Amino acid sequence: MTVTDMSQGKRFFASENVYLPHIAIIEKVIDETPGVKTFHFNFKDEKLRKEFSFKSGQFAEYSVLGVGEAPFCISSSPSRSDHLEFATQQVGKVTNALHRLGVGAEIGFRGPYGNGFPLDFLQGKNLVFVGGGIGLAPLRSLIWNAIDNRDKYENIDIIYGARSPDDLCFKYDLDTWDKDKTINIISTIDREDKSWSGRVGFVPKVLEEVAPSASNAVAIVCGPPVMIRFTFPVLIKLGFTPEQMITTLEKKMTCGIGKCGRCNIGNLYVCRDGPVFTYAQIKNFVSSEY
Ligand code: FES
Repeated sequence: MTVTDMSQGKRFFASENVYLPHIAIIEKVIDETPGVKTFHFNFKDEKLRKEFSFKSGQFAEYSVLGVGEAPFCISSSPSRSDHLEFATQQVGKVTNALHRLGVGAEIGFRGPYGNGFPLDFLQGKNLVFVGGGIGLAPLRSLIWNAIDNRDKYENIDIIYGARSPDDLCFKYDLDTWDKDKTINIISTIDREDKSWSGRVGFVPKVLEEVAPSASNAVAIVCGPPVMIRFTFPVLIKLGFTPEQMITTLEKKMTCGIGKCGRCNIGNLYVCRDGPVFTYAQIKNFVSSEY
């Protein structure tokens, strides 16, 4: 299976100019960790608000007027459509500007772009989510989507980690999933911490200890490059084939629509051919790029 042939969500361009964003209003801001915020938003245009659609795993370009734009996945689920969400870490000019915005502020939005997760391929399978840090953002869109369509999937395992308890994102989701008897979730932190009574250890190590079965399963992985790099060999050891391993990348994207040529890994464009890839598609580039 490749994940380049999936139909995309419905796009709405404000005009012939594909770089012209739609205006969206921030409705809520959540402090996830000291450097990460989640923004809830909705389009200013009533019609667009009603008709916009996207797929879990797709991304968009978000802009702050006069500052610039940056790509992030849509972190909410299409199965919960009263508003949209994205999460971003404060790492540069655009994200600094976004982090200064509050409820009522306007942002620009272009998208949705990219392929999204292959829902048809995932249906009827055991889903093994492996996430680290803010890498849970794209996974949570699919996790909520799977929960809202629970009968379409078999077991759901989530292994999620961060450096410290403070660095765990979406704690409210982790709590909710922890209470859901149909989900097996394990949260871990890298090093012992007085405030933490849960699991301790790097995500790939915990994954190896938990050892989810590869039978009829797909692993969906997203996190820091070092986590991704060490997670794939563990999955292979557990019996997952490269086709059963999926990840989503956000690397180096600028235009978001296959025009600037900045986001290539090998002969693939992350924005146009991804951002969701099977390990089979990217394994030749993982050691050097991820
Ligand atoms: S971001 Fe411009 S080609 Fe991919």
